[in-house]
Amino acid sequence: MSFDLLRSVAEARDFCAARRDAGSRLGFVPTMGALHEGHLALVRAAAAACDEVVVSVFVNPLQFNDPRDLERYPRDLEGDAELVRAAGARMLFTGTLEGFFPDELDEAGALLPQHRVDPGSCALGLEGEHRPGHFEGVATIVDRLFEVVQPEQAFFGAKDYQQCLVVRDLAARRGGPHIQVCPTVREGDGLARSSRNALLTEGDRARAVCLSKGLFAARAAFASGERSPRVLAGLVAAAVESGGLDLEYAAIRDPQRWTAGDPEGPLEQAVALVAARAGAVRLIDNLDLGAGGGA
Ligand code: PAF
Repeated sequence: MSFDLLRSVAEARDFCAARRDAGSRLGFVPTMGALHEGHLALVRAAAAACDEVVVSVFVNPLQFNDPRDLERYPRDLEGDAELVRAAGARMLFTGTLEGFFPDELDEAGALLPQHRVDPGSCALGLEGEHRPGHFEGVATIVDRLFEVVQPEQAFFGAKDYQQCLVVRDLAARRGGPHIQVCPTVREGDGLARSSRNALLTEGDRARAVCLSKGLFAARAAFASGERSPRVLAGLVAAAVESGGLDLEYAAIRDPQRWTAGDPEGPLEQAVALVAARAGAVRLIDNLDLGAGGGA
């Protein structure tokens, strides 16, 4: 199959329109690049479900509340293109903020407030609280990406649990596309695959396994009958703290109903969510405590 690497939003828009006009059902994998096995699993899932797969790579400045995090974010466009081509994608595109939002930026190059998209109530709490403005930035770019590609289905990784809720809600409000959430891909020791893992020092990489250890400890406790959100979150927090990472939050939520704060226990079903810093690198992970398989 041929493969195109496009470097402008306008070209990508025309390309996708032509493929749709030719009768192709497009599967879409939006990313910020520095691609790893987790992203490639999304590309493969999209290739299995759709006629052609489009991937975007855009390190979206709108969703970074910390400028140093934006600056440090790993970038390798040519390497990413090679990986997604081999995984079965038809096209990868990138662009600039101006390319995505022509005539919508102010003189300083910032997006005008009236063009920002409301991320909805799933943005409240946890990531939304610890990264102010993050989900507004995600909702704004994802809405524009959907408008450019107009895919039938879009694929997201379960590692970004709250992002998946925000995106599902956004897709429901705009009438599509269908959102597919694919399981988190883990390293052999349990660490969730993330582009940010590449930034970890050797020592922090070894310590980072405490996130998944804490989540799996909570899952074992849940399987043994523990239903108190406070106790389950405490197990995750204890593992992270004894692993030597700086805990931002360890929390339990009801997967049936997102709440900004702790749900009223005891819970029938539960998902555990965690965020911590290893040096300058911020990591997140989550696990469905009721599921037999990996989330
Ligand atoms: O998950 C990501 O990589 C980003 O948040 C996304 C969905 C590509 C939007 O920039």
